[in-house]
Amino acid sequence: MTPARVPRFLQRHVADSAAERAEAQRALLAPAASASPKYFYDRLGSHLFEAITELPEYYPTRTEAAIFAAHGQAMARHVGVGTTLIDLGAGNCAKAVRMFPLFEPARYVAIDISVDFLRDALAGVQRAHPQLDVVGLGLDFSRALDMPAELIEGRPAFFYPGSSIGNFTPAEALGFLRSVRARASGGGLLIGIDLIKPAPLLEAAYADALGVTAAFNLNLLRHLNRLIGSDFDPACWRHIGLYNASEARVEMHLEARDNLTVRWPGGQRAFAAGERLHTENSHKYSIDGFSALLQAAGFDAPVHWTDPQGWFAVFWAPAG
Ligand code: AVJ
Repeated sequence: MTPARVPRFLQRHVADSAAERAEAQRALLAPAASASPKYFYDRLGSHLFEAITELPEYYPTRTEAAIFAAHGQAMARHVGVGTTLIDLGAGNCAKAVRMFPLFEPARYVAIDISVDFLRDALAGVQRAHPQLDVVGLGLDFSRALDMPAELIEGRPAFFYPGSSIGNFTPAEALGFLRSVRARASGGGLLIGIDLIKPAPLLEAAYADALGVTAAFNLNLLRHLNRLIGSDFDPACWRHIGLYNASEARVEMHLEARDNLTVRWPGGQRAFAAGERLHTENSHKYSIDGFSALLQAAGFDAPVHWTDPQGWFAVFWAPAG
């Protein structure tokens, strides 16, 4: 009997909290105050995001899942079997695991910011797929995709569902796609993209009737309070989710309800009533626009699949 495989784990990202605190304070002190959307995702924030994906107004998650369900076989003909499947932002690994019966990867590399998030999920993946080579990699790939080269042996198939690339500006997205392309030779990238659509649909998805997205946005203030010791009071802020058509992005902001001052050890920032703290950009693309971006990044002509309403798309970008 061959011994059962066990997942391997590598932690590349070392959280430097001093640098992170300094960066968060700089962003709060800028003329147009902002906070990185990465601060949404503490424990409560991750639960709130999961709740968002269940909202009737938040179409991306279920629309993408329907595209994978309807076109998985066609995708598999492009991706091929026996790949090294590299999951960018793997989380609970569920989206990738659902594709295993079709993609039959030889190796599964799950990347997330902390391997600790991946341990339980990957133990389950290994139990269900005893022959699969399973690797967990702790890496903040939004900063740099510096994954150990030996993990990319074989035909690489990068997997980036969820339209999280929308958090990058188009220029940043191009840089990120180039870094994926540099590691994808012989394989490619399967990526989910939220498409441009009428503003009312987009704004409902980011300002839902139950206020779950408002809670998700406001929860960032508590995360910041823990990070830098600030005294943000969520009750003093209003959630804003609006579509900026000229930039093709949904913007989330928190708007001060009154004149107020936020204080933390070593600094403070006054906000006038109505002044905003910018917390997220979620860029939307056209099919042609994202195809062009993939090719500018060095991929070959992509194929894509979409839902009947044309709200979301999954692209396969081959890297020859
Ligand atoms: C996880 C970045 C894809 O932009 O739709 C959901 C985050 N923000 N509701 C998105 C989010 C508000 C989400 N992404």
